[in-house]
Order: sequence, then C-alpha cells, then structure tokens
Amino acid sequence: MAMRGLVFGVVILFSLMSWATSTRADNVLLTNSNGMLEGFNIPSDLQPPAGHKLKAAYYAEGLHHYTFNGSSWVLYNATATLYSVEGRLNASLLEKASGRKMLQEQDPMGQRTAVGDHFFLAHVDPTGGRPTWETLLPAYSSVTGRYEKSVRADPRSFEWSLLRATRLKGSGDIFGDIQYIQCLATTGGLPPSISFGAQFWNVHVSPYSAVYAFYR
Ligand SMILES: *[C@@H]1O[C@H](CO)[C@@H](O)[C@H](O)[C@H]1NC(C)=O
Ligand SMILES: *[C@@H]1O[C@H](CO)[C@@H](O)[C@H](O)[C@H]1NC(C)=O
Ligand SMILES: *[C@@H]1O[C@H](CO)[C@@H](O)[C@H](O)[C@H]1NC(C)=O
Repeated sequence: MAMRGLVFGVVILFSLMSWATSTRADNVLLTNSNGMLEGFNIPSDLQPPAGHKLKAAYYAEGLHHYTFNGSSWVLYNATATLYSVEGRLNASLLEKASGRKMLQEQDPMGQRTAVGDHFFLAHVDPTGGRPTWETLLPAYSSVTGRYEKSVRADPRSFEWSLLRATRLKGSGDIFGDIQYIQCLATTGGLPPSISFGAQFWNVHVSPYSAVYAFYR
C-alpha cells in the first residue's frame, strides 16, 4: 500500500505550536492545552457531539480513486499516507493543507514522519463504514467510519466531513477508542468536472491532501 519504508513512530498531536500569524484563522491548525483543535474554522455541522475529545490529528497526502457508473463519478477508494510532524503540524504542511501561502518555503519532507495509511475497505462493513485509517506501529490499530455530514468549504477541493466510527481493530493506543473522525482542510481530490465521453467503469485518480482529526 502507500506505506513505504520505515515507520519511525507515532506522535500524538496534543500540543501544537501557537502561530500568531496574520493569516486567516481557518488556515491554522492548533490545539490548546485541552487538546482541542483551535484556530481552525471548523463548521459547527462537523463538530462531534459534546464530550468527545481530540486524540490525534494527521496530515494526509495521496489519491482519491473514482469510477464512472454510467451517470456519475463515484469515489470508491483512497490511497493515502498519514504523516505526523514532530508532534505538530509545521507551517509548510499547513500551507499545503490550506492551499494558501503562510510563511516562506520550507521542505516538508524534512519534517514529517509517515505513521499510517488511509484506504477504503473492499466491502462496506455491516454498519455502513468504509473509509479506514490504520497505524502500522505500534499495534496495527485501525478505525473505519461512515459519513455523517459533509460541507463544501472550497469549490476547488473535495468536501470536509464528519464520520462516525463503525469499526475498531487492534488494541492500538491510537485508534483503539476513536468515535469520530473529521476530514478538514482538503485540497484537490475532486472527480472530473464533466462526465462527457466517460465510459462505464472508467477510473480516475485525483491527488489530494487533508487533515484528519480523531476524537475519542
Ligand atoms: C451512480 O452514482 C450516483 C451517485 O452516487 C447514484 O445516484 C446513481 O444511482 C448511480 N448510478 C448507477 C447506475 O449505479
Ligand atoms: C518547522 O520545521 C523547520 C524545518 O525543519 C524547523 O526549523 C522549525 O523549527 C519548525 N517549526 C516549528 C514551530 O516546529
Ligand atoms: C483500496 O485500496 C487498498 C490498497 O490498495 C485495498 O487494500 C482496498 O481493498 C481497496 N478498496 C477498494 C474498495 O477497492
């Protein structure tokens, strides 16, 4: 799968940096001392119910896979890598995540560590879940979710969404008790804008990035 090479470790993002930049608030991902995402303009529709606490947030880069079903392009898979960034999301990753320039150019490869994968289960699980996030270390834990709500935050990018966990696997520290997942700060990942000329079962891959936030 998308995971290649060594996995150096898993870093939970409890304390992120405090960027006091002049950029728009919704460009910036922060957590406060309670581990809540802050400074990120998350639509209220996408907030998990009260009482659920942020456990981790990862930046993801990969591909959306679409197939043409005769009338629409349908998202059927994602193959993406989850990255942790030394305990925080550094500016260059925030720039990529938000699609906007924040600070001077930095090399994101020097700062990020691959910690897991994102993909869709081959078959929808019994409670309607399919998108899945998996850490390879320490314990192959995974969470699968079902879309609850989506919001189109940027017409050039796929929707932000809230998913409810339907299936947990492994005793992993990371995803073992997750109940909600947010997909935020998306870039790209859209299907072709026209279906003219598309043939049944044509496929289309669409590069994207996002920030996934996990709540217990
Ligand atoms: C194709 O996908 C769309 C969107 O999910 C759906 O509304 C439609 O019924 C599907 N068509 C077929 C032939 O499966
Ligand atoms: C972001 O990454 C750069 C390059 O690795 C590093 O010099 C800088 O200290 C990092 N910033 C923060 C706030 O961690
Ligand atoms: C999505 O891709 C992953 C990795 O290649 C694969 O394991 C999974 O079965 C695929 N899911 C679907 C629905 O094709």
